[in-house]
Order: sequence, then C-alpha cells, then structure tokens
Amino acid sequence: MLTEIITQLKCIAPRVCADAVQKALAGSDRKEVRILDVAAGTGLVGEELQKMGFTNMDAVDGSRDMLDLAERKQIYQRLICDFVGAKPMDIENDTYDAIACCSAFGPGHLKEDCLPELIRVVKPGGSIVITFREEYLHIVEDYKDKLEPAMVRLQDSGLWERVSRDVFPKFYEDKDGITFVYKVL
Ligand SMILES: C[S@@+](CC[C@H](N)C(=O)[O-])C[C@H]1O[C@@H](n2cnc3c(N)ncnc32)[C@H](O)[C@@H]1O
Repeated sequence: MLTEIITQLKCIAPRVCADAVQKALAGSDRKEVRILDVAAGTGLVGEELQKMGFTNMDAVDGSRDMLDLAERKQIYQRLICDFVGAKPMDIENDTYDAIACCSAFGPGHLKEDCLPELIRVVKPGGSIVITFREEYLHIVEDYKDKLEPAMVRLQDSGLWERVSRDVFPKFYEDKDGITFVYKVL
C-alpha cells in the first residue's frame, strides 16, 4: 500500500522524458551515444536512461548541491556545475547525440535564451527532448508568448526542426505535461 502511494506521488516526467530520448536514439548503440542531461538535478532522468542501457551521459546543473546528490548515483561521467543560459557552457560544439531536459523550464528556471546554446552542443542530426509542466507555457511570464515563438524562430532559422509536441496527463497530480522533441540540423 505504502509503495503504491509513493509510486503514485512520484513524478512521471523523468520517465516520459527518458522514453522520448530512447525513441529519438532508436537504432543507435546505447553504450556509445553521448547524452547531456540539462538541469539534471539529482539525476532522475539519468537513472531512467541508465535502466534503458545508456551509459555515456554527462550532467549540467546550476546547483552544486544537486550535482553532489547526482554524483553519488554514479550515472554521469562528467558533472558540470553551470547556469544554462545564453552564455556558452564549457562544452565543445557538436558534442552530444541527444539532450534530455526535464522539469527545467519553470518559474525562475531556464529561459528561451538557452535554446541556441543547447543546439550548439548537439551534433547535427542529434535530438533535444524538453519536458515540463504544460501550463507553464501560459502562466509563466518568461514563457508566455515567448518560449514557443522562440522555438519556431529557431526552426525558421534552420537550426532545428520539430519532430513532435506531445501533451500528456498527470505530470503532477492533475496537471498535464508537455514534451517537445527537436532534431538539430
Ligand atoms: C525541478 S529540478 C529538475 C531536475 C531533473 N531534471 C528532474 O527531472 O528531476 C530543476 C533543476 O534545474 C536546475 N536549474 C534551474 N535553472 C537552471 C539554470 N539556469 N541552469 C542550470 N540549472 C538550472 C535546478 O538547480 C534544479 O536542479
């Protein structure tokens, strides 16, 4: 009974995000492909990806405390403590096959100005998966009429192309989640 309640309370977003990464990387060698977990927090998405057999993962997060917790799980090869925004991260161009970015868009978190930087570090043909609470698109000032238009502008500029935009239920209690999948061009 207790396990059931805990399972119900657990946010499903890390699993949804990891599933979308897995789908985007279908057919690739799971031990070879390189994934960056953006705003990795304590590593919940990395744990899901590891269960799926992905082993070549790095994490970036602005919080050293979060990264310390993630490090204990021994999921990630490189842990980068940095704020993700317009400023270049200490990562070479075209490094990753995929980015997983889960629950990182929210009040006071990532802004749309980080999207070109995410695109920069992903190889052409690679994928960017972004999952967050759907209502944030409409209620967070930084995102309202800003986040999706910025995504569209990047597509119009030929930097990436949208593969899917899926709304799913129960991101948190009765709140929907949304997952965007983009292919980097
Ligand atoms: C709600 S947690 C999500 C953690 C993890 N991705 C998950 O799904 O469980 C949000 C994380 O984003 C990080 N964060 C927020 N804004 C950030 C920024 N601009 N750059 C890097 N990390 C940021 C926070 O430190 C926190 O660990």
